Amino acid sequence: MKGTCVIAWLFSSLGWWRLAQPETDASQCQTTEHPVISYKEIGPWLREFRAKNAVDFSRLTFDPGQKELVVGARNYLFRLQLEDLSLIQAVEWECDEATKKACYSKGKSEEECQNYIRVLLVGGDRLFTCGTNAFTPVCTNRTLNNLTEIHDQISGMARCPYSPQHNSTALLTPGGELYAATAMDFPGRDPAIYRSLGILPPLRTAQYNSKWLNEPNFVSSYDIGNFTYFFFRENAVEHDCGKTVFSRAARVCKNDIGGRFLLEDTWTTFMKARLNCSRPGEVPFYYNELQSTFFLPELDLIYGIFTTNVNSIAASAVCVFNLSAISQVFNGPFKYQENSRSAWLPYPNPNPNFQCGTMDQGLYMNLTERSLQDAQRFILMHEVVQPVSLVPAFMEDDSRFSHMAVDVVQGRDMLVHVIYLATG
Ligand SMILES: *[C@@H]1O[C@H](CO)[C@@H](O)[C@H](O)[C@H]1NC(C)=O
Ligand SMILES: *[C@@H]1O[C@H](CO)[C@@H](O)[C@H](O)[C@H]1NC(C)=O
Ligand SMILES: *[C@@H]1O[C@H](CO)[C@@H](O)[C@H](O)[C@H]1NC(C)=O
Ligand SMILES: *[C@@H]1O[C@H](CO)[C@@H](O)[C@H](O)[C@H]1NC(C)=O
Ligand SMILES: *[C@@H]1O[C@H](CO)[C@@H](O)[C@H](O)[C@H]1NC(C)=O
Ligand SMILES: *[C@@H]1O[C@H](CO)[C@@H](O)[C@H](O)[C@H]1NC(C)=O
Ligand SMILES: *[C@@H]1O[C@H](CO)[C@@H](O)[C@H](O)[C@H]1NC(C)=O
Repeated sequence: MKGTCVIAWLFSSLGWWRLAQPETDASQCQTTEHPVISYKEIGPWLREFRAKNAVDFSRLTFDPGQKELVVGARNYLFRLQLEDLSLIQAVEWECDEATKKACYSKGKSEEECQNYIRVLLVGGDRLFTCGTNAFTPVCTNRTLNNLTEIHDQISGMARCPYSPQHNSTALLTPGGELYAATAMDFPGRDPAIYRSLGILPPLRTAQYNSKWLNEPNFVSSYDIGNFTYFFFRENAVEHDCGKTVFSRAARVCKNDIGGRFLLEDTWTTFMKARLNCSRPGEVPFYYNELQSTFFLPELDLIYGIFTTNVNSIAASAVCVFNLSAISQVFNGPFKYQENSRSAWLPYPNPNPNFQCGTMDQGLYMNLTERSLQDAQRFILMHEVVQPVSLVPAFMEDDSRFSHMAVDVVQGRDMLVHVIYLATG
């Protein structure tokens, strides 16, 4: 989607790749044809939206009635009719000249010193949206059905990246808390998962601590039950021989209020686990780098596109993870390193039936049952989350897919999961 001036919307449940349900026999899955249909051939089912000067259509969301598509592009917000992508409202959102000048003076290019929309979230009748604003991120709270009506403008720091190159994700809970995973500073050396707004105290991941986050590229986030989940890839701190990237699922309790004396203003419930997406064999072939996810809440399944590293041969796979398999790993042992020179060893989980606790006791109580010492020491799970099937749901060499969506449709005699994949 990036770099082109087109948003294409595919009508009907026509799929490039039809896949059997994950529950069905894996061998059957592999024999399923994956017909490739050209862009031209699907032309009659495509709708396009273009706007003069608008590029980098990086964020899409829907209104609560699912009748409108809200789009964040460079320097623009759009509302489109979902039916046919016809324009309802276009709003220019540019940086002012002084902000641009300051951006140039810091050595950034004209291309970078623009307002790239990176947060686009609907909450009731409001749109909360943030842009990079020439490396001075800013957020606004707007009326959803009239985007020129701005109620609030606040700093985008810790909510939106400074650089359009930095990958980030954010969500709003029904309670009004914003969870953002982004670089917090201009050079992008301080990544964090940060909570703000709402009534709960702001919290973040520990600063400059590679055991918490190690040069992460954030991919997605979901509000599920008592937790907020984050999906990302990062340099694997547990891998001592050479630099390797692993994909992760991480979570925090939504009612976490942070520590006292220890872990002040910091999560006490942050944990993360590695996701395994690989082609089995004597030596498994790993697709280590998560690029995109899609959550099917009714089935508790997370679909993910995983690729090889940019410096090695191109290959992509789609793996499917059961949320209960992820929870199970979070209840298992941790991986623990006594000091920076010792080996990573499994360490039994002190709270194998960990719960987030309840809010009823009021704020500023010990809401969770984790001790602060444990919360500081145990971040990484020992076990690796395995996908629902041994063989990935889809694999393709020489391709790097970057975006996905999954639709569950009624086939002749079973439900079929149709996966839409896109490059670029
Ligand atoms: C946006 O404004 C509304 C009304 O003032 C407020 O209730 C809501 O919390 C605001 N949302 C954010 C994310 O700031
Ligand atoms: C949208 O809001 C702007 C700014 O408050 C106002 O001038 C304009 O009339 C509104 N448009 C509609 C269609 O209500
Ligand atoms: C963000 O993700 C994209 C797609 O994986 C990647 O090409 C890009 O290098 C990432 N940005 C940074 C700053 O690592
Ligand atoms: C990942 O899955 C493969 C099977 O595809 C398995 O052989 C391998 O041991 C797993 N790796 C990890 C680290 O769990
Ligand atoms: C996910 O795991 C749950 C609990 O183990 C199981 O009941 C469910 O069938 C699994 N779903 C899939 C699609 O494998
Ligand atoms: C959330 O936590 C409470 C208290 O620990 C627990 O009773 C409840 O079942 C949890 N909810 C979910 C959806 O897991
Ligand atoms: C919180 O837990 C600590 C140690 O577990 C305990 O010393 C303290 O009294 C508890 N505070 C409250 C308000 O329950």
